[in-house]
Amino acid sequence: MEEFPEPKWNKADLAVADANLAGMGRREIALAEQEMPGLMALRREHGPQRPLAGARISGFLHMTVQTAVLVETLVTLGAQVRWAGSDQLSTQDHAAAALAVGGPEADGVPVFAWKGQTDDELWWCARQALAWPNGRGPTLLLDDGAGLTRLIHAGVAAERAAAGSVSRDAADPDTAPGSSAEDDALRRALQAPAGYWTDLAAAVRGVSEETTSGAHRLHRLADRAELLFPAISVNDSVTKSKFDNRYGCRHSVVDALNRATDVLIGGKLAVVCGFGDVGKGCADALRGQGARVVVTEADPICALQATMSGYPVVLLDDVIDQADFVITATGAPGIVTAEQLSRMKHLAVVGNMGHTADEIDAVGLARVPGVRLQPVKPQVDEWQFPDGHSVIVLSEGRLMNLGNATGHPSFVMSASFTNQALAQLQLHTRQGLTAGVHTLPKTLDEQVARYHLPALGARLTTLTEEQALALGVYVTGPFKSAHYRY
Ligand SMILES: NC(=O)c1ccc[n+]([C@@H]2O[C@H](COP(=O)([O-])OP(=O)(O)OC[C@H]3O[C@@H](n4cnc5c(N)ncnc54)[C@H](O)[C@@H]3O)[C@@H](O)[C@H]2O)c1
Repeated sequence: MEEFPEPKWNKADLAVADANLAGMGRREIALAEQEMPGLMALRREHGPQRPLAGARISGFLHMTVQTAVLVETLVTLGAQVRWAGSDQLSTQDHAAAALAVGGPEADGVPVFAWKGQTDDELWWCARQALAWPNGRGPTLLLDDGAGLTRLIHAGVAAERAAAGSVSRDAADPDTAPGSSAEDDALRRALQAPAGYWTDLAAAVRGVSEETTSGAHRLHRLADRAELLFPAISVNDSVTKSKFDNRYGCRHSVVDALNRATDVLIGGKLAVVCGFGDVGKGCADALRGQGARVVVTEADPICALQATMSGYPVVLLDDVIDQADFVITATGAPGIVTAEQLSRMKHLAVVGNMGHTADEIDAVGLARVPGVRLQPVKPQVDEWQFPDGHSVIVLSEGRLMNLGNATGHPSFVMSASFTNQALAQLQLHTRQGLTAGVHTLPKTLDEQVARYHLPALGARLTTLTEEQALALGVYVTGPFKSAHYRY
């Protein structure tokens, strides 16, 4: 890259907002460790053997307190790590500072993340996470939304095109940057000496992916035989998607609404767009607050689930002018259009729980003739229409639970991140993994759950030999077949 945005604070090899926040971050990390039994068990059980020795992990995932516990676990397991936050608004600056500065039992790690980044700064930080000393690259990627994966694949595609050996569709949505401002920034971040991306990709043993949207992208790349290295979809572990996506969002969606607006939720009409894992958690949380919750869905199975859970399934157009809250949770673009936003009730609140920033058309909203932006506070924007009414948009349409609140609680993230650490161990130690999308074996999924049960006082029943035989399982598990859906 030729032009770097000015980092907020740069000491040697890191860029965070304020190193003086490290003390507060370290205290919160210590609290989080108590609530992350899976990661602490991995440190105890595997730390002494340092099974990740020799691994250079470049990470791109929300730079939160819980992520700091994950990173320090990877270091305890022997890895070297460089880290960038995966969202412009989700970084907890005290966590970034603490991870960068280190603590009594942890050396500092190169961190490139601060809250309130521009698109160019986000991708500049991603580049820094990939840039190991002495011109080397990572051996492993730990990714969110397939951000690093996309950057590398776009770089390799550009180099192949420059060399005249285009082996892919240049307009491929999973590799080539599109037309959004963020994609323009990604395109600028690709500048590198000839061959840089090809060499970097060749040294990557694999990537572990955190979220649904990233897993979709990996599957599409693999389906076209264009994935350049093996991937483990952590999202496809049951103890990730059925817990983080559902119960994490059940906690953090209301947390975000309260911190952002503090308006009463009970009795109001809340629309949840998408009734997948995230939508189910959001709907449950809003109903728990006494909201009248309705759901929009495209998938008949999820729609039927919603109705049988007591949620009317409606068209957004039919309720948009009555809704007090609209929460998107689909992972798809254009869920709430600018025209629909303009028809919402005065001071209705709209927020996004999906990974991408385009579920709510915040860009289109800014182009509505006569509309005025009146910021209320950081990550809470009042958009005033010429007729005098307003809507409140949270976190500019980016993840509201990380922009307006602090993401999921540590305990939930412990399950997700124990899967991440196990995936990194698999990628580092297993030979012969193909360049496809893999999931962790069910025994490890069950192990992640086991790590977390004692903290909640749960006691597992042991099957008798007779019962195990009748069920067709082993007494020690796995307890379900691979296709069981939970
Ligand atoms: N906020 C968080 O902390 C968090 C946590 C996990 C996942 N995510 C992200 O949330 C998004 C959803 O994840 P998920 O695991 O629930 O996915 P999912 O596939 O389980 O659910 C998404 C649902 O949205 C529905 N949908 C798609 N287009 C729609 C439309 N136009 N109208 C109505 N419904 C539509 C789909 O049919 C599907 O049922 C993804 O982007 C994922 O990466 C966010």
